[in-house]
Amino acid sequence: MTDSRLRVSGELRVPGDKSISHRALIFAALADGSSRVRGILQSADVHSTAGVLRALGVGIPALDEEFEIVGVGPHGLTAPGVDLDCGNSGTSARLLAGVVAGSGLEGRFVGDGSLSRRPMRRIQRPLEEMGARFDMSEHGGLPMVVHGAALGTIDYRNETSSAQVKSCILLAALCAGAEVTVREPTRSRDHTERMLAAHGVEVWVNDEAVLLFGGQHLGPLDLAVPGDPSSAAFFAGLAALAPRGELLLRGVCVNETRTGFLAALGEMGASIALENRVLSSGEWIADIRVAAGAGLRGVEIVAEAIPTLIDELPLLACVAAFADGETRVTGAGELRVKESDRITAVVDALVSLGADARELPDGFVVTGTSPRLRGTVVTHGDHRLAMAFGILAALPGNEIAIDDRECVSVSYPRFWTDLRAVTA
Ligand code: S3P
Repeated sequence: MTDSRLRVSGELRVPGDKSISHRALIFAALADGSSRVRGILQSADVHSTAGVLRALGVGIPALDEEFEIVGVGPHGLTAPGVDLDCGNSGTSARLLAGVVAGSGLEGRFVGDGSLSRRPMRRIQRPLEEMGARFDMSEHGGLPMVVHGAALGTIDYRNETSSAQVKSCILLAALCAGAEVTVREPTRSRDHTERMLAAHGVEVWVNDEAVLLFGGQHLGPLDLAVPGDPSSAAFFAGLAALAPRGELLLRGVCVNETRTGFLAALGEMGASIALENRVLSSGEWIADIRVAAGAGLRGVEIVAEAIPTLIDELPLLACVAAFADGETRVTGAGELRVKESDRITAVVDALVSLGADARELPDGFVVTGTSPRLRGTVVTHGDHRLAMAFGILAALPGNEIAIDDRECVSVSYPRFWTDLRAVTA
């Protein structure tokens, strides 16, 4: 338990889900007819996807609270006259590379320094197997040129679960009219499959594989984007750490491929209840009520659970510093190729502030000592690092500065305002 003065209270509606927002734009662009989208995440990453789609000839309006997109259909994209700039966004680069490849177009993908270091061979391999060609940088990252073609069918086994790779292949196949099967060790987030099915495309799904049948068209969307569970997680973590009060997080996507952090927090001893569960456009949405339990204890997270909380692991490490005993995360090597090397970055930051943490090759161990943390966090421009340590900075007794507070604009531009509101 931390300082007895901290109290969180009230309700919060976090911004729209980032994964679903990217997909909403891409799907609306590829649909036959006119789609309506409400509550999209207005953040830098989603603007990157919008920008690339505009460069491919789609009339994407300003990303207001509600807007309409007239789809060009699965074969209606046009050759881009400019580089396809994905900024900081891995989801934009990987999903849209599939779209460009399947549309038979040629596109040069670029991004910022962080994105340019991230691995792209993971999409090159399956897309080349389907018939596309890549001019890839020697280090296997951006810039890369994707040469589309009339893609053929594949049955692809990805050795690492990744929704970005899976979605890249499914979108390439959708645009090309090809049939594909994608297999992975444990099911990654399944928003693409759900959105396809909710808009008239036949997909067959089980725990190990997704099969998309060839030659199908996407119907228009009428979609309200639910709240982002990865953004809600910061406030769930804060409410679990605060000795007093409770928080109601409204309208959050509780798709079971995304709720691993809530499950971990529950196992650590926090009180978590899901209320008003409804199904909307194929996604489960609920209000989440979170309060501190009788004090948090450490937890063990193993490989099978990793895809369900991959983006929340830096936050889990931060919360673990204030939980009794050891928190051990393994099977999370993918963290090393996110917006930063999140294993090294989070462990270094915790240690520099005075917490007990150490790296594993594929994870970390944090021993909870409820320390008084002092110092400046080096975020490496990584939005999730900034927000995870922002939560610890809100705990009285800690004196933490964040080197780059602005980088939250990637996924949650009003994060600091929301944090002030619930701790006021
Ligand atoms: C995402 C999938 C995950 C996640 C990322 C968003 C998506 O990445 O970490 O923030 O929208 O498909 P991987 O699929 O590379 O694990």
